[in-house]
Amino acid sequence: MDLHILDHRLRVTSICKNGLVNFTHPLIKLIFLRNRARCKFFSLTETPENYTVVLDEEGFKELQPSEHLLVESSVWLPLNVVSNGNSSSSSQAVGVTKIAKSVIAPLAQQHVSVFMLSTYQTDFILVREKDLAVVINTLEEEFNIYREVGGEYSAVLSQDVCNGFQKNGKEAPQLTVHPLLIPQNQFCVMSLDPDTLPAIATTLIDVLFYSNSPKEGALPSQDLDCIKFFSFSLIDGYVSLVMDTEAQRQFPADLLFTSSSRELWRMVRIGGHPLGFDECGIVAQISQPLADNNISAYYISTFSFDHALVPEEDIVSVIEMLQQHRKEPAC
Ligand code: ARG
Repeated sequence: MDLHILDHRLRVTSICKNGLVNFTHPLIKLIFLRNRARCKFFSLTETPENYTVVLDEEGFKELQPSEHLLVESSVWLPLNVVSNGNSSSSSQAVGVTKIAKSVIAPLAQQHVSVFMLSTYQTDFILVREKDLAVVINTLEEEFNIYREVGGEYSAVLSQDVCNGFQKNGKEAPQLTVHPLLIPQNQFCVMSLDPDTLPAIATTLIDVLFYSNSPKEGALPSQDLDCIKFFSFSLIDGYVSLVMDTEAQRQFPADLLFTSSSRELWRMVRIGGHPLGFDECGIVAQISQPLADNNISAYYISTFSFDHALVPEEDIVSVIEMLQQHRKEPAC
């Protein structure tokens, strides 16, 4: 298997809910005017707490410093696993489940903090640029590692980057158990041809920027057990959308597509207090039991919390297995 270190230097930011009006202009440029904004990696996720924006340095230049914008201080690099088609595993599972044992667990073991971004197309594992030597050293047993520079991939060897770096022993990091929240909404993970973005522009603008203003004739949302969660990403020309079925109904049905099985997904939100960026092992704790049970999962980290999406028919067993896992002493 190959692991690519992609040629994007990313910033992780958050815009507070009532500060969004100050950013509509740059966000519209980043979403709809691909040729004007030279941004190649852009992701925007609305949660009840805030809007998380992950974007490359070109995109970041579009966001003016403001009291409404929080910026995580590190530069993050996206990693991406590319299977060469001859994968020996018979697993049909998709998403983070496929990389739980080969990438997520070994990085957690080495105390590397990650930030996950699953999309319709793939799963990006963001690591801090300063951790890159540890990352390469940890993952080179399992992967051929290539670094993308200006569209070209060249093999990376750990002796080039790791002068004298020693791996940790088998000592497991201290795990904090974070509370889980299971909202009732059903989600879908979709894509669309980026050339048809103009056709959904008004709906997207409505959902992203006006979803909190009551619509004429609409009843106030009665369902307190549902969570606001909407994610849009445009990465290297690919669009990915994660939304609940209520938001989905607002989009024209013929433009968005989902995987052939048309699954619906349920969410497990991880964290009671904001998780911060330094703790490691959070993604590992969740993805490990899912991988053991071969349950597909998307995983989206946001500025404050983490979110796993699992097939709706598996939600009951997932809750049980995560609770079970938490009772067992960490091994
Ligand atoms: N750093 C965590 C880990 O390595 C995941 C990200 C949690 N933080 C956040 N702001 N979502 O497992």
